[in-house]
Parts: sequence; C-alpha cells; structure tokens
Amino acid sequence: MFLTDYSKKMMTKTFRKTIYQFTETPSPVFSDRFGVYLHVPFCHTKCTFCPFYKELYDAELKDRYVEAMVKEISNTDIQGESEWIYFGGGTPNTLSIEELQTILEALQGKMTLSNIGIELLPSLVTMEYLDGLREIGFSKISIGIETFQEESIKKTGRKGSSFQHISDIIQYAQSIGLHVAVDLMIGLPGQTSETFDDDIEKIIRIGPDQITIYPYMVIRNVSAVPSCSTAEQFVHIERAAANLEKSGYERKSVWIFVLPNTDDRDVYDSSKDELISDYCGFGPASFSTYGGFKVVKPELDVWLEGIASGNLQSFVAPKTKSTDDWRRFANRIYDLKLETSYKFPLYIRFFDFILRMSGYHKDGYLTDKGRYFSHEITKAVVESLPFPLQDPSCVENFHEYLELKKEIN
Ligand SMILES: C[S@@+](CC[C@H](N)C(=O)[O-])C[C@H]1O[C@@H](n2cnc3c(N)ncnc32)[C@H](O)[C@@H]1O
Repeated sequence: MFLTDYSKKMMTKTFRKTIYQFTETPSPVFSDRFGVYLHVPFCHTKCTFCPFYKELYDAELKDRYVEAMVKEISNTDIQGESEWIYFGGGTPNTLSIEELQTILEALQGKMTLSNIGIELLPSLVTMEYLDGLREIGFSKISIGIETFQEESIKKTGRKGSSFQHISDIIQYAQSIGLHVAVDLMIGLPGQTSETFDDDIEKIIRIGPDQITIYPYMVIRNVSAVPSCSTAEQFVHIERAAANLEKSGYERKSVWIFVLPNTDDRDVYDSSKDELISDYCGFGPASFSTYGGFKVVKPELDVWLEGIASGNLQSFVAPKTKSTDDWRRFANRIYDLKLETSYKFPLYIRFFDFILRMSGYHKDGYLTDKGRYFSHEITKAVVESLPFPLQDPSCVENFHEYLELKKEIN
C-alpha cells in the first residue's frame, strides 16, 4: 500500500508540472506518420459524469462548426499518411453522415486516410447511420453504453437505450464489417454489484469485439457522486474479468477486453494511440502533440472567431522528456506488462526494480497485486491531468483568454 500511495503521489506530481500559455498556435511539424483527433463538442443533454468539453446542440452553431472544421483543416500545413483518425466528443453522431463526409473530404485533400473510428451515443444510432459510416470509410465504432440499468442512466441525465436496441445495432454493425468497441462504467450513481454483474452478463450475450470497463473517475467538475470506492471498483472489474475470460475474451489492459485475434490496430485505446505517434487535433478543445509541444484548442466561441479571423490561439505547453518517460512507463503498467527496458532512464528502471522486488511483477507481467497497482495509478493519473479549460491554475496567462472571450461575446 505504501508503494502504491507513494507512486501515485510521485506520478501525479510529475504530470501536474505542465504549464500552458494561451498564445499563437504553433505550426504542426509531423514526420511521415501521425494520428488525427477531431472533437465534436455537441450533446443533446449533458451527462453528470462526463468531464469532456461539450456544448448543448444547436443546429445553427453546428453548421458554423462544420464550415470552420473544413477551414481549420485546409489551413493546416499537414501531409502524409495518417495512422488513425478518430472522431470523439461530445457526441460525434450529432453530425449527419453528409457532414462527417464533408470533414473527411477536407482531410483527404491533405493526407491518406486509414483506420477511421467514431464514438457513438447509442440512442441516436440507426441502421442507416451505420450503413452511411461504412460507405464513407469508417472501419470502427465505439458505443457508450455505460450501463444497461435505466435507473442509473436516468440519474446521470443521459438519454438511455433499451437492451434490444443496443444489441441490434451492435450485431448489425458487426455484420457490415465494422469493428465494435463498447464502453461500460462502474461506480455510477445507483450501480451495485448485482446491477454491474447483470451488465456483464448482458454484454457477453451481445458479444462486441471489445469491451472497456471504466471505473468512474472524478475528473474536473463532474457532479455525479460515485457509488463505490476505487478499491471496490477494482474488485468489481476483477470479477467481470473472470467472467469475460471464461467467455473467451482476452485481457488487453487493466480495463480493456477483446475477442481473440483482434488486430492491435483495431483496439480502441486513445491513451495508447497518443503514445505511439504524434497527433493533430481539430475542433474546439481538441488536444494535439507535435514538435515538442502539447496544444489544446480553445472553446467553441473563441475557436470559431480564431478560425474566422485567421488568428487561432491555443493553450500551448512544452513537452518534457521526463513527463513523456513517466507516461510511457504508466502505459506499460496499464497494459499489465513490465519487462525491464533499457529504453527507460535509470531512475525509472530503479523504480521498476523496486516494484519487481516487492512482488508487483514477475516474468514481465503484473501479478494480482500489480494489477491493483495499475488500476490505482491509472485512475489517479487521469484524475490529476492538468486541463487548461477547467483548471486555470495550469495556464500562465488565463486572464488574457478570459478577456478575449469577453470581447467576442
Ligand atoms: C468521450 S466519452 C463519451 C462520448 C459520447 N459523448 C458518449 O457519451 O457516448 C467516451 C467514454 O468515456 C467514458 N467516460 C466518460 N466520463 C468518464 C468518467 N468521468 N470516468 C470514467 N470514464 C468516463 C465513458 O465510458 C464514455 O463512453
């Protein structure tokens, strides 16, 4: 326990060191391979557990957004072959197939597209929409189920869907060749061991290609009160893991399970994608990492104005080698593997040695004790990542951003 608490403190302190400046957006610098993240900020209702940047859906704002996305992409000096393209949200399926196609065409003018994925809110999904996604080049979808329990969903302000609808859309998506990942959560209001076990039994019956079980994380301004502790969430996830493994799923990381023979490129794991290659974010509040910088674009109003005036400012922080090394190390732990690698600096290898001596990993894999460590560390790191839009203390000149915002509105 001492080692877990100490590691949590040390890692969160390292990650919290990032300080942003609101300033001119640096021109992207990419070697030949990169990812592309497109943020769609619209939602019909705001879920009380969700910390991601979003605005209530408004048709006129959405039209202006699509137009500005095309302009932002066209004005960006980026070319080559993309490793992955990912629409996240918000609720990306508030956009029509035609609007998604317009954005993809803008990207196509710049780069070769591959591995295109999108997050979907199940209540808005129809078979025609899935056909449309396939036709315009999507190969994978990620469906936010969270829980099948209507009561819990209702408590979070989310628009729910019936088991039958979710089962139908997943089976249809798989039948037309889409790779289907789903998100479940544990720790939402009203969830109990019984309701969670029922969720797992139901998802096994449906059989998606990937199941991610997120412990509910209390990140930046969420208002839903967790129904269980971090340690209890782990016990629930381990019980689910045993059932999923009995049903043929393989564990990919502490929270991700996949059907056998799943191609690594199909696995939905945004934290990992970021580590594999630099990526370029488009849209309000999107993240990017390139040329030694982390970049976070501003909120919708400031972003629209920046694109229109041709002077888009963003939150920019230098990437440091030690934060990057610790992130890579945290990611190895998340993947439940820890072979000693000489690619890590000496201080991380020493820490790794202490973990091995204390029984957290053996023969390159995390032990039971190590898995709990991984759950605690990953959750603590995600909960403490500094995000300029919700945590002004990590931005040196946040007042300049607020002044600009005031001028625009
Ligand atoms: C970007 S989000 C949501 C996309 C889309 N708006 C939706 O609700 O389906 C992707 C996933 O993150 C997970 N998530 C959201 N908030 C979370 C939180 N506070 N803790 C843990 N996981 C969370 C949910 O499982 C969600 O499906």
